[in-house]
Amino acid sequence: MKKILATGGTGYIGSHTVVELIQAGYEVEIIDNLFNSKATVIDKIEKITGVRPKFYEADLLDEEKLDQIFAEAKYDAVLHFAGLKAVGESVEKPLDYYRNNIMSTVNLLEAMKKYGTHEFIFSSSATVYGEQEQPECVETMETGRSITNPYGRTKYFIEEIIKDYAIADKDFKAITLRYFNPIGAHSSGLIGEDPNGIPNNLMPIIMRVSDGRIPELQVFGDDYPTADGTCRRDYIHVVDLAKGHVAALEHMKNGVQIFNLGTGQPTSVKEMIKAFNEASGKELPYKIVGRRAGDLAEMWANADKANEVLGWKTELTIADAMRDTINYLNHEKEEHGE
Ligand code: UD1
Repeated sequence: MKKILATGGTGYIGSHTVVELIQAGYEVEIIDNLFNSKATVIDKIEKITGVRPKFYEADLLDEEKLDQIFAEAKYDAVLHFAGLKAVGESVEKPLDYYRNNIMSTVNLLEAMKKYGTHEFIFSSSATVYGEQEQPECVETMETGRSITNPYGRTKYFIEEIIKDYAIADKDFKAITLRYFNPIGAHSSGLIGEDPNGIPNNLMPIIMRVSDGRIPELQVFGDDYPTADGTCRRDYIHVVDLAKGHVAALEHMKNGVQIFNLGTGQPTSVKEMIKAFNEASGKELPYKIVGRRAGDLAEMWANADKANEVLGWKTELTIADAMRDTINYLNHEKEEHGE
């Protein structure tokens, strides 16, 4: 069985993927600098799977440490989740984003080359599509042109670095996964999305409104050209997303392959609120406010390529994601004695 290194493996998407990998029989090790996650996630992964992954608290910018880690373990594949991801912050601190996200990837690819690890899976984002003429995104569309922030551009630049590197190293096998909007949590309630600081994304904000940490949800605009006027996105359950990585690992081949990971179905902000209310049995307080700069009216994945080539498709619904999110929130409250 392949030995895997997961960078950012204690983060939201990383931790769910580590669980699925262990359950599929892979040996997994984790590197994380805990910038936006907690070491206790390792205990939770052990609780769910019965296996404790080896954990290195390390920064990918620390080349010496990275070299030591690679020298010790012979990895077959690297899954690269680690990275800064706050859109607003990236506008304020672009150089932090370029240094962290891009240099860390270059360091990782160099360590892989030195120690003979050829398989690489990269966590990219639907953000690389920017604004397109049509809202359904297909992998063959041009990317990079209308990205509105440095965070999004780091994802685009890294995708290009991977393509260039694959031309130079004929043994290199890469898969770039473009995530749409990940939501939900593991059904155990033990792991989920728990960002440090003030969240920017819809679901973490809904979670904080539901337990009173934020007084109300601000809905950014209801005058978009959609049925109910609010923006529509392709929300994918994080466990489905995690399973997409397991499918990808089983389909590595020389060169670069790119896949959208989404459901193929858009959901509006108002529909998300309704789904949350149905799952919680409560009314989430919200207010319609002005549009957020840079938001697109709607975008969703065309997931045909992942369905056909990887034999993967999403199985969980928005209702499942809402139920699992609430379950996770309740577990967190219990754990912290509230
Ligand atoms: C955002 C980023 C994208 C990034 C992704 C990561 C922007 C413009 N895009 O995507 O680059 O890859 O997160 O997950 O920031 N909403 C509200 N009120 C809120 C928060 C969000 O109404 O308080 C709405 C937004 O207008 C949007 C939807 O909820 O329609 C989803 O927002 P969000 O979770 O931030 O995701 P994206 O904007 O799709």
